[in-house]
Amino acid sequence: MSKPEIRSNEISIEIDRYVPKSSEKKERAILRNINLNIKRGENLGILGPSGCGKTTLLKIIAGLKTIEDCDTANTYFSINPDKEHRAAAQKREAFIFQESLLTCWQNGLNNVLLPIKISNKSKLDSKRKEAVKLFKETGLDVNEIYMQYPKTLSGGQARRLSFVQALINDPDILFLDEPFTGQDFVNKNRLINLLLRHDKTRDITIIFATHDIDDAIAISDRIIIMGPEGPSEDASSVIKAEKAVHRNADGTVRNHKDVKEGILAIDWFSLCRAKA
Ligand SMILES: Nc1ncnc2c1ncn2[C@@H]1O[C@H](COP(=O)(O)OP(=O)(O)OP(=O)(O)O)[C@@H](O)[C@H]1O
Ligand SMILES: [Mg+2]
Repeated sequence: MSKPEIRSNEISIEIDRYVPKSSEKKERAILRNINLNIKRGENLGILGPSGCGKTTLLKIIAGLKTIEDCDTANTYFSINPDKEHRAAAQKREAFIFQESLLTCWQNGLNNVLLPIKISNKSKLDSKRKEAVKLFKETGLDVNEIYMQYPKTLSGGQARRLSFVQALINDPDILFLDEPFTGQDFVNKNRLINLLLRHDKTRDITIIFATHDIDDAIAISDRIIIMGPEGPSEDASSVIKAEKAVHRNADGTVRNHKDVKEGILAIDWFSLCRAKA
């Protein structure tokens, strides 16, 4: 009998209440009562309807939303280790944002290589070759992307360029926010396979926000489903359910049907904030 795999925690998250500072809206807790341990190498899918707080949770975990962004009297959360401690432990992290954040005055290749030019010039030649490989693997035309600037790229191309930008730095932890927006079926599958290959060779921790059930199942080892804790439109979001995804040795999902049916059995209308 094989030994059970023992993995240490990559990140522990405890959010009692998360109340952002807001000048326009009345201040309310977006998230409440969230306790999560993400294991090293685990792929966690954060699934839920629009506005339930997926991006907020992802950014809190990534350290991109801090206590300075909050109504401090009403907020309590802790992330262990936090971004600074993870960086001190040499963790490399990458974030693919819901909105593409490419540098508009750099062409495609420079968008990918700029951070390496600044921080690790000795690796530039090998990274340039790697970038070419990743362009092909993400379905980008290498010759075009070398010269094109972000404003001349389609939304889907820009998103694939963001993938190359993220993966070229060999992240230990990869944050993905709706990463397949704007992708056709072929390119989406390319990106999923690329992610799973990277995951297999480097065992990265992937934390992934989406409202697409099949995408969540394709990438995750575990899926949390988020939604408001009560009927009010102002109700805070909590974790409503959790599903484990089991894989065969070749990486294919063993319990796709069960997980999908379990997720669809949740009353999604009750999870949506804006009631019809
Ligand atoms: N700085 C802020 N101040 C006040 N409210 C905010 C702030 N940022 C986000 N919100 C609110 O928090 C809620 C969650 O937003 P968030 O962007 O995390 O949702 P989401 O699940 O990622 O949605 P989507 O699927 O549409 O991307 C929304 O109701 C949004 O209006
Ligand atoms: Mg979002």
